[in-house]
Amino acid sequence: MATQWKDSFSLHHETIDAQHKELFRLANFVENIDARTITKIELSHLFNEFFTYMRNHFAEEEAYMASIE
Ligand SMILES: [Fe+2]
Repeated sequence: MATQWKDSFSLHHETIDAQHKELFRLANFVENIDARTITKIELSHLFNEFFTYMRNHFAEEEAYMASIE
C-alpha cells in the first residue's frame, strides 16, 4: 500500500519538506517494483540512489535540528 505525502507532515521548511516528498516518491517506487521484471543491476542502482538520498537527507535534517536547538 503506497504511502502518500500529507500536508500535515510538513515541517514548514521548504528544503526538508521537498526532501521528505522525494523520500515518499522513492519509497513508493520501491514498493511498486515488479520483482518479475527488474534486473539485479536496476535494483542495485535503485537502492543505491535510495540510501544515498536518505543519508544526505538525514545529515541535512540533523544539521537543521541542531541549528534550531
Ligand atoms: Fe526526515
